[in-house]
Amino acid sequence: MSNKLPAFDAFIADLRKIWSQESDTQRRMELARDRLETLVRDPALQRHSQSWPSTEGRKNLLLHEDDDYGFVVNAVVREPGRLGGVHDHAHAYTAYGVCYGEEYLERYERLDDKSQPGFAQIRLTGTTLGAVGVVDLVPPWAIHAEQGGKGRSCAVIVRSERLVGKVLQHNYDPTTNSVVERSGPEQIPYRLMI
Ligand SMILES: [Fe+2]
Repeated sequence: MSNKLPAFDAFIADLRKIWSQESDTQRRMELARDRLETLVRDPALQRHSQSWPSTEGRKNLLLHEDDDYGFVVNAVVREPGRLGGVHDHAHAYTAYGVCYGEEYLERYERLDDKSQPGFAQIRLTGTTLGAVGVVDLVPPWAIHAEQGGKGRSCAVIVRSERLVGKVLQHNYDPTTNSVVERSGPEQIPYRLMI
């Protein structure tokens, strides 16, 4: 008989405890970031993640959506050298934790006054290396892009709420100074069985 991965079950139980004890979204996500750091360093989780399927083609694995508290846990498995689009996550917080490989998180700032529909001038302000065990917390409306490293990489993501199917996010193209609204990545339900 199969079971869910114990390290992941314990992670969800701890997130539920955080959500039950804290009411502020930023505080919840700061605590979730710390707990995610422990999860992505867990050898059993790291071993298990080696078998997760690629999410190329704007997909996310949907590992957990919490019926009571609304937070979502996704995973992405990026192929080497994968180029990510520049986007935001509307009003949601997002924590990215790398469990194998390397990823880069680019951060951008907006330079125009947002008065022209469809126009957005943005500028790269910094790039953070996401190595194994590192968790990056992206606040609401922050403009960013996740880029793949030299090899395959995998990250577990905690979102403060589900946006896909409910809220549109922004996608930016710095080469044409344009911005469009569109839905986030396709959600592929995926259970971590042993
Ligand atoms: Fe993102």
